[in-house]
Amino acid sequence: VGTAGAQGKLWGASAEDWSEFQEPAWVPVFERVLDLAGVGEGTRYLDIGCGAGGALLRAAERNAEIAGIDAAEALVEIARRRLPGRPIELGEMEELPFPDRGFDVVTGINAFQFAGDPVVALREAGRVCRHGGTVLALAWGEREKCELMKATFGALSPLLPPSNDGPSPFARPGGIEDAMRSAGLGRRDSGAFEASLAYADHASAVRAFGSSGIANRARQLAGDRAVRDALGPALQPYVQPDGRVVLSNHFRWAVATPV
Ligand SMILES: C[S@@+](CC[C@H](N)C(=O)[O-])C[C@H]1O[C@@H](n2cnc3c(N)ncnc32)[C@H](O)[C@@H]1O
Repeated sequence: VGTAGAQGKLWGASAEDWSEFQEPAWVPVFERVLDLAGVGEGTRYLDIGCGAGGALLRAAERNAEIAGIDAAEALVEIARRRLPGRPIELGEMEELPFPDRGFDVVTGINAFQFAGDPVVALREAGRVCRHGGTVLALAWGEREKCELMKATFGALSPLLPPSNDGPSPFARPGGIEDAMRSAGLGRRDSGAFEASLAYADHASAVRAFGSSGIANRARQLAGDRAVRDALGPALQPYVQPDGRVVLSNHFRWAVATPV
């Protein structure tokens, strides 16, 4: 069932770079998600596709009772190292290893769109969330509004086999809401926001963007040198006068409740 085997290998292949160079840029997005979902003191909170635990760390600072799951063993190991003793599972989001109705808040931050069937993954998120609780999905918006996606795909598409997949349905307006409805979740709210991702310098940004699943796929096919040679010029336009690299992005989110 699901994509955990394949996705886990791709996302785990550069786990240390992901946690050191990519994840810190996302802290403002994690904080925004936790605010939107109402994560605070005592909230029983599950992050699906938790990666190296970036959102979970911030939730732990809010004294939430945290749990996580991800398909990438190397990322799960980092998350467990940072958050010892917390239930952070290696597994498949379409078949969650958690009992029914145990969480107040369940999130997927750029995660549900990697499921074989995102509707099944959202239904599972709804199963483990209590009645009246909160399921929140966040995803990047359309490529023309999201420099993160423009830079990534502009650089790496030439290294990948041609694909008919097109952009993720979650990137278009209403895409997340439609999937939540199909998963039997009751709509509560949805919206979009702009957020910049900032990296210390060009070299750090190349390491950060070279650590994603798609970059690791390109690396398997074309080699590390080709990936770095593609990302370097693609990230150059975003270098600021102070040397930092800053990309502006549009993110979409929706909140629903199990009914
Ligand atoms: C874009 S990353 C986001 C990671 C984290 N939410 C963050 O924002 O830092 C997507 C994550 O989803 C995980 N993932 C992909 N497919 C999965 C699946 N079928 N089951 C569980 N996790 C999956 C990947 O391993 C990866 O860590």
